[in-house]
Amino acid sequence: MVKITVIGTGYVGLVSGACLADFGNTVICVDSNSEKIKALRDGVIPIFEPGLDEVVSRNVREGRLSFSGSLAAPVKGSQAVFIAVGTPPREDGSADLSHVEQAAREIGGAVESYTVVVDKSTVPIGTARKVRNWIGEELARRGADIPFDVVSNPEFLREGSAVFDFTHPDRVVIGGESPRAREIMKEVYRSLYLNETPYIETGPETAEMIKYASNAFLAVKITFINEIANLCEKFAADVQDVANAMGRDGRIGAKFLHPGPGYGGSCFPKDTRALAKAGRDGRSPLTLVEAAIAANERQKELMVEKIESGLGASLKGKTIAVLGLAFKSNTDDMRESPAIAICRGLVEKGACLRISDPAAMKEASWRFDSIKDSIYRAGDEYDAVKGAHTLAILTPWNQYRNLDLERIKELLLPPEKPGALPCFFDLRNIYRRKEVEEAGFEYFGIGK
Ligand code: UGA
Repeated sequence: MVKITVIGTGYVGLVSGACLADFGNTVICVDSNSEKIKALRDGVIPIFEPGLDEVVSRNVREGRLSFSGSLAAPVKGSQAVFIAVGTPPREDGSADLSHVEQAAREIGGAVESYTVVVDKSTVPIGTARKVRNWIGEELARRGADIPFDVVSNPEFLREGSAVFDFTHPDRVVIGGESPRAREIMKEVYRSLYLNETPYIETGPETAEMIKYASNAFLAVKITFINEIANLCEKFAADVQDVANAMGRDGRIGAKFLHPGPGYGGSCFPKDTRALAKAGRDGRSPLTLVEAAIAANERQKELMVEKIESGLGASLKGKTIAVLGLAFKSNTDDMRESPAIAICRGLVEKGACLRISDPAAMKEASWRFDSIKDSIYRAGDEYDAVKGAHTLAILTPWNQYRNLDLERIKELLLPPEKPGALPCFFDLRNIYRRKEVEEAGFEYFGIGK
């Protein structure tokens, strides 16, 4: 059992804190936002993450997890301090480390005995060394000679399955050479370590690179299949069969070969841009990553063009039902969701939208403020299609996988051209062409 402070109660911090407590450690989650701390103490979980509320409440009840608005006292009593604050992207794609620096300096101002400081946020390669310097400077200012180590411990959590990912990781990566720090980290992850989860110890820069390289590789993989899907359309090939057969090759693997409207979220877009910038700065260009970034932007534009050409007419005066706004299902997160660019693109071309999402409607209201006059916020997917010319599925929510197609057809406006069928844009390939066509629609998937 290790006494831990986690700084930052965002996605990563809160999930890590709660799950580390679940491993048997004693954890205090700290945030400078006092309202957030008050809410957490009242049992309110500020983010939408399946299963998290249960892990939080159980560990609070059992006395292993608590919350604090100030950092000093928890840090003084901890053997390991996790930095899980935000690293928002700057204009040029690099990560803004000001919150990390502030946390590091406050740690330096507070520690009283040997402490392992753990970088959990995704940070540029070389940050662990910077954190070490910032803490060292604060200790020097205090005239204090207190030993400490900094390790990088990247997270590989997917939103929507973060609790599962934390408790069942493919690997744990610990970047830091100090044997003393490694011992404590092994204790922190003792329950995983005993379960024989692959446990990889490296230097800090290597650990930082592992995180970026993993995310960039996955983003490239998705982009690859998106481009193959686009090409399949030119040759009447079916990308789902292509991906299925490719995925059977163990060297390729079946995961992350689902074509769609482009990757989004708070990680892939930000991390690919940060890595590409590191490549340019280091004069060691990451040409594949650069190409994936550009192709991913293009993919969103292509979706708008697909809808326009599918309808066979200008989008001016057309009403389009948009099903799904979150960047993926099981989250309310719309950060860099392809839905943002696609909805804006459709409105720019003169369309009106009837938008719907099971979780992201609140997010959507401020994100679409500038185009709100062209948007109706529907109560659900059936309300969205009511009186629309067509529908486009942008997020593969489970509830969109089994729509009542008869009902949708009745709710949509009848096509203007005599004999034409209403268009059904399945931009996540969650339907079989045959079933949608049999229900009386013209079907448009991706790459099939
Ligand atoms: C991603 C990684 O999967 C995590 O391992 C990593 O820890 C996390 O970023 C992070 O850096 O913190 P996440 O952003 O939650 O997790 O989302 P993913 O499930 O990876 O999906 C990312 C985007 O790719 C979504 O827009 C999704 O719809 C899209 N995607 C994914 C596809 O279009 N096709 C696929 O086959 C898979």
